[in-house]
Amino acid sequence: MVSRRGFLREFSGGVVATGALARSGASVAAWEGGQVIAPTLSIANLKPSGQLDEAYWWKVRSQFNILDGMTFMNNGTEGPVPRVVLEANERFFREIAENPSDNYRREEIDQVRALVAGFVGADAGEIALTRSTTEGMNIFSHGLDWKAGDEVIYCTHEHGGGIGVLTTLTKRVGIKPVLVEIPSPPPSIDHIVSLYEKAITPRTKVIMVSHMTYVTGLVTPVKELADLAHRRGLLISVDGAHPLGMMDLNLKALNVDHYAAAGQKWLMCGTGTGVCYIKREVQERIWPLMGPPGDPKDGAKKYEAIGQRDVPSVLGMTAAVELQKAIGKANIEARVRFLSGRFRAGLKTMPGVKMWTSEDPAFAAGLTLFSVRDIPMANVQQAILSRDRIYIRTMTTGNLNACRAATHIYNMPAEVDHLLDSIRHVAENSSRYMTVAAH
Ligand SMILES: Cc1ncc(COP(=O)(O)O)c(C=O)c1O
Repeated sequence: MVSRRGFLREFSGGVVATGALARSGASVAAWEGGQVIAPTLSIANLKPSGQLDEAYWWKVRSQFNILDGMTFMNNGTEGPVPRVVLEANERFFREIAENPSDNYRREEIDQVRALVAGFVGADAGEIALTRSTTEGMNIFSHGLDWKAGDEVIYCTHEHGGGIGVLTTLTKRVGIKPVLVEIPSPPPSIDHIVSLYEKAITPRTKVIMVSHMTYVTGLVTPVKELADLAHRRGLLISVDGAHPLGMMDLNLKALNVDHYAAAGQKWLMCGTGTGVCYIKREVQERIWPLMGPPGDPKDGAKKYEAIGQRDVPSVLGMTAAVELQKAIGKANIEARVRFLSGRFRAGLKTMPGVKMWTSEDPAFAAGLTLFSVRDIPMANVQQAILSRDRIYIRTMTTGNLNACRAATHIYNMPAEVDHLLDSIRHVAENSSRYMTVAAH
């Protein structure tokens, strides 16, 4: 983690002007070090009118307030918020601060729900607007009637946000989580499906799987696993923290029963936003996590009885979705794949580097995991940050000693190349970085 104040102090020769930095709008010299924020464009202005060349993507990049000189490559944890979203959130926050008598904004929230539903290929009655992926995962698993001995299949690389609830249900009800191990990288889709199929027993109730694992960034064959689940009379619950805002998602086409996604990662809505899809046909089997049982006519809204909520952030989701629609979901996925493909192609041939993420586009998109010799990952991360001002994250899951980089639409090819240069430097000077992170 690097704080804005720390980043500025470290990389701006001590010039810190964080107050001014927060300003947005027309050209503003945001801090004495010279950061200039480009004019804010309307969403309509970001609709491609011609070729999606680097000039176009630079225009997209100019709509983010990412610190000058910082290359941010950890969208997998939290994305930077584009200015249209930031300004929308600020506006709604101010409106409610000035006039709290209209704080619930229920009709507008229903409009956000309808917009989000259309964006992910679902009906509005199947979408609950949540606070996070974790909340969406809990809604499904805590909402289901389990019996002691019921089994749920999951894989080694599931995130705590998705499987934490299974641990509680194991203790509280006596369910049995059954682990499958997917090789990194996997040989084929059929191989992955066969691993899940072999784990099914007469007691299996649910397959729980990440659409993209947070560890290696493996894109799992969710449609094939959903078909398997349904053939065998099971439910499928998907941790979709990453694909929303990164991939051209269509939940109906994926045929899943449940899909929990984050707003703050690739959709870039800021913290406290999430999307939970529960297929209409299974809603009667899923109790709400909070509040009353709900009325079937309310659809997935019954999962939102959480009391007062962060209305500004929920309403701000409209700007995030409209921005993505203007750029185009397929264009976004293609750009993410272009950037990460460039990164993986560079990593693949680099001496001393092990890439854990598959090279096959069927199994990878915006996340890439790698190790540099056996240098402790925190040293690799710190060296890259200190030397080249590039922020990536470390990964310890499954005893890995690795770092993960994410590429999204605000990243430029030069930043990918810069990260490759930085990794090459660390690999070539490994003795310097083995014990302490050299600055
Ligand atoms: C695969 C996966 N699932 C769940 C989560 C938790 O997300 P949230 O903070 O939205 O609950 C993350 C966060 O990194 C994740 O990567």
